[in-house]
Amino acid sequence: MILDRQSRINTSELQARLKSINFDDGSLPSNQITEFIDQMQVYEGAMYEISTKLEILDSEFQVRFSHNPIHHMERRLKSINSILGKLERKELPLTVESIKDNLFDVAGIRVICNYRDDVYSVSNYLSAQNDIQVLRVKDYIKNPKQNGYRSLHVIYAVPVFLSSGPHYTPVEVQFRTIAMDYWASLEHALRYKTDLPDTKLSEHSQTLLDCARSLQNIETQMQNIHRDINGAPQAGEAPKAD
Ligand code: GTP
Ligand code: MG
Repeated sequence: MILDRQSRINTSELQARLKSINFDDGSLPSNQITEFIDQMQVYEGAMYEISTKLEILDSEFQVRFSHNPIHHMERRLKSINSILGKLERKELPLTVESIKDNLFDVAGIRVICNYRDDVYSVSNYLSAQNDIQVLRVKDYIKNPKQNGYRSLHVIYAVPVFLSSGPHYTPVEVQFRTIAMDYWASLEHALRYKTDLPDTKLSEHSQTLLDCARSLQNIETQMQNIHRDINGAPQAGEAPKAD
């Protein structure tokens, strides 16, 4: 199952939104608006290509092992506001070139797997496909963040074929288990809850860290039962960047 976190690109809506933005030196010239929309369509294509590859892997597992490694997927394109906000925060120029050179998460897919073994097998099988490249790997499962966050982040570059030829386009894929996703959603909500007193915030953060550890233990126990009864492929290492 794929959850689309926003509907497909609506060109006229995007055009209107871009026209309404006031930059220091006025509004964007129309050729830059067209360039921006074209690029967003390339990101959308890249996102669909990777999610199709993941769906194919999932159904192959179903046929071969009677097991679906992927519980569900979520995909989204970064909004214009978030794109511009990120460029501004990083003090980068607000141009399509600068988006292409600096932002690797315009197209994003979250792959929520049933078990940790599934995270590594799906990511490794995807990374081994020779029409895509692995640009960057961050394994927060092996090395969780200090707050307890766990997930495997891989940035892939996938060729999107246009009339002008292939355009290698990055897609950020976050692989995680159901338990990791459950935890990250609450931690994300806490992070954006700005009206909490500091004492409450640190109390909740500490509890969340404890929860992360407990979830990790539960997950290991359940993974072992699953391995025993299903004989699913054993976990490998995280994919390596090309
Ligand atoms: P940015 O994309 O600029 O944030 O930097 P980065 O690419 O170095 O970040 P990283 O790969 O570590 O994380 C990117 C994404 O992972 C974020 O946008 C979140 O969706 C997710 N993420 C990372 N750390 C956390 C965390 O501590 N808590 C939660 N809930 N999500 C996180
Ligand atoms: Mg990122």
